Amino acid sequence: MIKKFLDLGQQPLANKYLTKKDLVKKKVEYYYNLEIGFNTSSKLVSILNTVPSRKMFDKEYPYRASMSQTMLNSFKDLSMNIIKTFNPNLIMEIGSNDGSFIKNFNKKKVICVEPCSNVAKITQKMGYKTFINFWNMKLAKKIKSKIKNVDLIYSANTLSHIKDLNSVFNSISHILSDNGVLIIEDPSLLECFKKISYDQFYNEHIYIFSLLSIKYLLKKHNLEVFNIKKITTHGGSLRYYIKKASNNKLKINKNVKTHLEHELNFGLDKYSTYIKFKNNVEKSRKKLMDIFSKLKKKNKTIIGYGATAKVNTVLNFCKIKNETLDYFLDTTPNKIGKFMPGSHLYIQKYNKSSTNKINYIFLGAWNFKKEIFKKEKKYIKRGGKFITHVPIPKII
Ligand code: TYD
Repeated sequence: MIKKFLDLGQQPLANKYLTKKDLVKKKVEYYYNLEIGFNTSSKLVSILNTVPSRKMFDKEYPYRASMSQTMLNSFKDLSMNIIKTFNPNLIMEIGSNDGSFIKNFNKKKVICVEPCSNVAKITQKMGYKTFINFWNMKLAKKIKSKIKNVDLIYSANTLSHIKDLNSVFNSISHILSDNGVLIIEDPSLLECFKKISYDQFYNEHIYIFSLLSIKYLLKKHNLEVFNIKKITTHGGSLRYYIKKASNNKLKINKNVKTHLEHELNFGLDKYSTYIKFKNNVEKSRKKLMDIFSKLKKKNKTIIGYGATAKVNTVLNFCKIKNETLDYFLDTTPNKIGKFMPGSHLYIQKYNKSSTNKINYIFLGAWNFKKEIFKKEKKYIKRGGKFITHVPIPKII
């Protein structure tokens, strides 16, 4: 049974940044009600009103993994580790985006799968075999018949975006060699709850996985987790190492049991934990709005930093508009000069002097706090402040 535990209100599609022309023409934005539920049997957490994939992942998809050094470093470290530990002959990445992960591998050893043609064309140009398709059984069969089984499948921040998870794992199982390894990483529900980072919920994140729910899902497909690692990307993620249940060569690491115990000790299997989270979200909204309203009473100027998909959930849930924030800074070419969905806040191109005359910055990209604080040393030194809503709204 799916029990609803959170309602984040009417939300626009998170990655649909608007052009000036869209605003002049008063383009009608697509809204949906962002409600989140907990499946008491499978322990899977999902949004309840999903948006068709084709509406979200199209030729204008703006996200580029390469915009963050943190992501690039994480992909590079993992790639080196994959070569050292598994030395696969053929790797496939599902959701290869702009090639930030696969660029660490030999072109002859990689297959990319990416439905957004604008980013898929980047890896095609780099010389990587790229299928511009959604991941499904049809594609798995096509690849298997044309090429062969794959030894290693990697997918970061993608499987949680696909509604039909049974089809996902079925088609992965079909193409993965018997001794093959599947590595997936996605935001961790445990971290999301600990950090009260409710902005992990938006239309693209259909699911926020836990080890509990992943284990349940994999069992149906004769797959199992043999190792798990906590990683810091996307505000706290889990990297699951998965094998076929029939493969006895890979032993199950004790990390798996330990992490499962952490999730159970936190109460991720109990509905009451979800209600507690909902109450924490309400408190978080109130506290953030108190901070903003105190600063605005003093006529302070506040801007946003990092026009993330996530922050749109916060802006639209808290009804933050240009009375509060003047604009957002961002480095992504496809976002610059556009406006945030729903709030219509302007996205200004970031440059080194962007923060020179600013005193308060709301961290939209709180997950890159370390990287941003390093970049903004001068700003911090002269007394510039950051505002974050994670884990508790505060001025830093
Ligand atoms: P990210 O947190 O990766 O993802 P999501 O959109 O999935 O929530 O997005 C980070 C955004 O922040 C991206 O638009 C790039 C921007 N950014 C900067 O503008 N400057 C920076 O120094 C960093 C690290 C990110």
